[in-house]
Amino acid sequence: MIEIKGVKKQFQNETVIEYKDMVFEDGKSYMLLGASGCGKSTLLNIIAGILSPTKGNVVIDGENMQEKSQPQRDKLRIKQIGYIFQDFKLINEMSVIDNINILRLEGINTKDAPELLNKLGILEKKKSKIKHLSGGQKQRVAIARALVKKPQIILADEPTGNLNFTIGEQVIKELVDVSRGKTLIAVTHDDRLAKYFDCVVDMNEMTSGMQDLVREGGLSND
Ligand SMILES: Nc1ncnc2c1ncn2[C@@H]1O[C@H](COP(=O)(O)OP(=O)(O)OP(=O)(O)O)[C@@H](O)[C@H]1O
Ligand SMILES: [Mg+2]
Repeated sequence: MIEIKGVKKQFQNETVIEYKDMVFEDGKSYMLLGASGCGKSTLLNIIAGILSPTKGNVVIDGENMQEKSQPQRDKLRIKQIGYIFQDFKLINEMSVIDNINILRLEGINTKDAPELLNKLGILEKKKSKIKHLSGGQKQRVAIARALVKKPQIILADEPTGNLNFTIGEQVIKELVDVSRGKTLIAVTHDDRLAKYFDCVVDMNEMTSGMQDLVREGGLSND
């Protein structure tokens, strides 16, 4: 279970985001919806321990992440969290399978990679360089790479952001399917995808701070 308790993030440029308390239960899938700039990516980064909250705590399975050191949080992220970034963060000049096997450098066992690539329909591309793949294929590689370590928590930031609706819908179905039994938190802008998730969280309602002014057009966000 992931608990968000009294979390507030203030960036150096004074942007303030306050999150209402939230709980993400084990084994459920959540879709985060909300206006651009309301703080969705920031929340994923705080859960992953990449960003620290200015105030408040993220508690994962009863452990307060803010009581741990950054190296401890990094270790937990590597072990427990699969993070799918919107821009994939794949290495273009390397093959699909090498992009996954590189995780061995972090001590991750990648023996399940072929099975995952097969489930995602791209096993025959395993020796292709990333730069020769389509957007949907790259997204599937990013999903396989995030899942190969069997994380308990999967965070996905706009996994369909670069895809047309039909391919995006297919990728979401596959993501939800391969994430079954784990906690999945995915940001998407498309409410047509809501039916594939157990819960939809309206992040406009879960955040406040200067973001309200941005949404009301009273403050430039640039
Ligand atoms: N590193 C940073 N430094 C300063 N401000 C930041 C930083 N990262 C995010 N912000 C600000 O925090 C707010 C929330 O950003 P965030 O990226 O979480 O939004 P988002 O909901 O993911 O938006 P989008 O849907 O456009 O991806 C924005 O106003 C953004 O400008
Ligand atoms: Mg974002």
